Amino acid sequence: MSTHSLTNKSPNLSPVHLPYDPEEYPRETSRHYISASDEDLSAMLQKVGLSRLSDLYSHLPPKKIFTEALSLPEELPYLEAAAELENISKKTNLLPSFIGDLLPAWQVHPIVSEISKLRPLSTSYTPYQPERSQGTLVTHWIYQCVLSNLTGFEAINTSLYDRSAAIFEAICCARRSRKRPGPVLLANSLFEEDISFLQTHAQGTDLELELAPVDATSGRLDYARLEKMLNEQHGSISALVFPQVNALGLLEEVDQLSDLAMKWHIPSIAVIDPMLLATGGLKPPNRFGQHGVDFIAGEAQHLAIPPSFGGPGLGLFGSRFNDQSKKDLRNTPGRYIGKAKDSQNRDCFVMVLSTREQHIRKEKATSNVCSNQAFLATIAGANLLAKGENGLKHSLAQAMGSRKQVAEWIMQRDGIQFAFSDTPAFNDLLLSVEEDPAQLLKGARDRGIHFGIDVSSRIPGNDKKLIKLSFSDLQSEQDLTVLKEFLWDYFPASSSKKREVVPPTHLLRNKPANLPSFSHDELINYYEQLANLNISPDDGCYPLGSCTMKYNPLLNDWAAGLAGFSQAHPQAPEEDVQGPLEVLYQIQEWFKSITGLAGVTTQPVAGAQGELVGLKLFQAYHLSKGEGYRNIVLIPKSAHGTNFATAATAGYASGIVYLQANENGMIDLNDFRQKIDQHRKNLCGIMITNPNTSGIFESDFSEIADEVHKAGGLVYMDGANMNAIAGVINLSKIGVDAVHNNLHKTWTIPHGGGGPGDAIVAVSERLVDFLPGRQIRKEEDGSFRSYLPEKSIGTFHRNWGNFGHKVRAYSYLLRLGKEGVPRMSSVAVLSARYLFEVLRYHYPTLPAHAGKIPRMHEFILTLSEQDFVKLEEAGVPKSQAIPQVGKLFLDFGFHAPTVAFPEVFGLMIEPTESYTKPELDRFARAVIAIKDLIENYPIVVGSAPHFTPIDRVDEVTANRNLCLSETLTHLPSLPVNRIQPKALLALEIDEIKSRILQLHDLSI
Ligand SMILES: Cc1ncc(COP(=O)(O)O)c(C=O)c1O
Repeated sequence: MSTHSLTNKSPNLSPVHLPYDPEEYPRETSRHYISASDEDLSAMLQKVGLSRLSDLYSHLPPKKIFTEALSLPEELPYLEAAAELENISKKTNLLPSFIGDLLPAWQVHPIVSEISKLRPLSTSYTPYQPERSQGTLVTHWIYQCVLSNLTGFEAINTSLYDRSAAIFEAICCARRSRKRPGPVLLANSLFEEDISFLQTHAQGTDLELELAPVDATSGRLDYARLEKMLNEQHGSISALVFPQVNALGLLEEVDQLSDLAMKWHIPSIAVIDPMLLATGGLKPPNRFGQHGVDFIAGEAQHLAIPPSFGGPGLGLFGSRFNDQSKKDLRNTPGRYIGKAKDSQNRDCFVMVLSTREQHIRKEKATSNVCSNQAFLATIAGANLLAKGENGLKHSLAQAMGSRKQVAEWIMQRDGIQFAFSDTPAFNDLLLSVEEDPAQLLKGARDRGIHFGIDVSSRIPGNDKKLIKLSFSDLQSEQDLTVLKEFLWDYFPASSSKKREVVPPTHLLRNKPANLPSFSHDELINYYEQLANLNISPDDGCYPLGSCTMKYNPLLNDWAAGLAGFSQAHPQAPEEDVQGPLEVLYQIQEWFKSITGLAGVTTQPVAGAQGELVGLKLFQAYHLSKGEGYRNIVLIPKSAHGTNFATAATAGYASGIVYLQANENGMIDLNDFRQKIDQHRKNLCGIMITNPNTSGIFESDFSEIADEVHKAGGLVYMDGANMNAIAGVINLSKIGVDAVHNNLHKTWTIPHGGGGPGDAIVAVSERLVDFLPGRQIRKEEDGSFRSYLPEKSIGTFHRNWGNFGHKVRAYSYLLRLGKEGVPRMSSVAVLSARYLFEVLRYHYPTLPAHAGKIPRMHEFILTLSEQDFVKLEEAGVPKSQAIPQVGKLFLDFGFHAPTVAFPEVFGLMIEPTESYTKPELDRFARAVIAIKDLIENYPIVVGSAPHFTPIDRVDEVTANRNLCLSETLTHLPSLPVNRIQPKALLALEIDEIKSRILQLHDLSI
């Protein structure tokens, strides 16, 4: 795409330079990103028998509907929104930085930005339909292979939220392997933020955490005391967690720690930085001690993107999977991609080991994670292939060269020392200074440099004043010159001798990593082919119910990439990151208005984590009232798997009570009342998805909420379906205490092939004081500052959650404005209701007795008993009928609807507001054609899909003969589309139908 300089009409705004011409993308420039014309909307309204958009909500209680406009600004025209975003980003003061620390930054290969523009990779959903997702599956396979290569671990999942979450999941996994899990021993030399994350999660559960102390004379773990602790606990410890590079930037004795864990038969978890494991770097964790550690956890964000004010992160998790060690794999969390064959023996890839996950195992799942950080895994894999063995080696060498240079300068100055001269470090430099570190850092900033960070408080009992600098391949000669000038200015010349120990060889890698390398052209061509194997909501309706696959504006991605947002480090002084803080502040305030609730946290990075935040808030609230015994969580049977898994993660595994549905698919009030009577005294709360997963608004929501409140419980609303009601229903008026807003659904963040998502949580007045993380306030002088709520439950993210996604949502909301939010929801509902009205004459609908209840954003189709019989006769058993019908959608160029959830025999369709009436009509014709095929040519159902690059995948064998990684000597060979997805979308529906029939020697 070429660069376009576009001039705004407003004389006050400077021209913006967009790397694309928005006019070339009709969905991009349409008002509120709604493609349907006014005529389309009138015709659709007429079809459903209504005259205005607001009539779509006339069946809901009027008192619960917002009567006043939202407190959002008026919508901005495209270029003004772009200019506004650019202006805010410029409020960030980017200085040469040696901060690194919690979130190192390294150069990312330029190929990453090219791959990020491949929309079928960046905007598609989790690869549940392998025949139409080989693109995503291969990128994840590459990630697993190259990370396996670097770490020596055979099973790397794709992926977890961030380092803290990966440590937490590794701990849970280690505990599952113990008969009676005892306390977990955490090195106190881990990052404080990771420790607080774990403590926040442990609260109210049976997870006990103990801290192993740091030795104030060496700056690393006190090994003698650690051994004594292990001795005293007689092997009851369930896991030992330690870092390779600790929070002071010093190297821990990983061999000793690994062997100590082994001696006591304790699972060991090493916290690593994969970048530092490249050739020329640190020892890989499979080589720690005699046998290597059991699990690894770490942050890999810097392999994919710049700091982006803290996120999206990329949680790395690995376990062993070789002839000696296989047993833990089924206890592990997250998503794995395995090698497979399709029914024609073609090589392909598929998600494996799903039976551990929440969508199948609910509260018994190994983790509540659903959306993960998938797209970061995609681009991290590409970055590593593009940099290759030599590129990575070179990056490390450059960082070490800069560090060596600065260490030499330190030797020449007085008043600044190597803090622990006998303890080795790698690419960090830990210095002790005489002056107050805060003053010193301010002095450096005044001279134009972010010198490092004050880490004095990281060793309890330490009286040294400590500053840590981190080095990477990002620091230029010029940055080093600025640093030198500062040192020369600030510290007098020294004549005294200083010494620094070099890392001993046993802590370093002794064999090359041997990462594969490919040329830029080869890779870009390959990733373009991968993109061609997927489909994107850009091109047409992507009817995946409950997932809200709407159009993802290009403007949002452009904004998130602006240097003032993407390069901002979350630990930079607040005065230098006013741009990001302003975005967060506005988001915080706007989401209060959109939900009608009193407070907001921007930390949670996915719906499931939002749910956990909600339940942890409930726990803290009850504890504060002396009612910590409340342990019952009511959840409708039809809820998403994450609701149950989250309740278990929050400590309520034995307190989950299922609620039944009535014949309309809504919560059965009689059953609810019976359960609430039974559990009144111990009721913690209820989790309700509204509108529910059948696309129906829970009309008794307020009544249910009132009864829960009367019983002393609290109400969590799963906001996955906010696209139906955002800006329309005032959640405070229906009694919501906490709700998550999936930015990757309603708020247009691309799904990335499974993540990263984001889930801003809004809460009622009762819970505001307990919110996790920091809040932002606007000062009188217009600046933005952060603060911790008084009774905060702790933290769910080391910083601000997936900040890049907040920028995207902010950009979207600038274009929507106060009118656009309810209009977007209304058109989403209208599109669904329109399709429902067309299709209900062709298919039975579910819930069976809810035919007359107006649908909101989605609806469920099913087949008649006769259809099931016909299919059975044609060789498709009833249990396979619905998933197989889903495959026929792929043949028409669409993604499948959500199959078999929440109704086993349901096809859940959510069209969203992004498509024109002709596009919806074409989709409807395809769905009707599918019904005709089922009724009249059932034989074609069993062999679907017919035009995708691969046929049905043999998942049973892929799961039985698991292959999760291999040495990549060449890029995996790719299947080819039998008909290109775009070509399918351009064909007449009848033409596609006859081509399917021709394959079976049939004709219409
Ligand atoms: C109804 C519902 N709840 C919760 C979730 C979990 O959200 P996330 O994937 O963002 O964790 C989903 C995801 O699809 C959902 O549809």
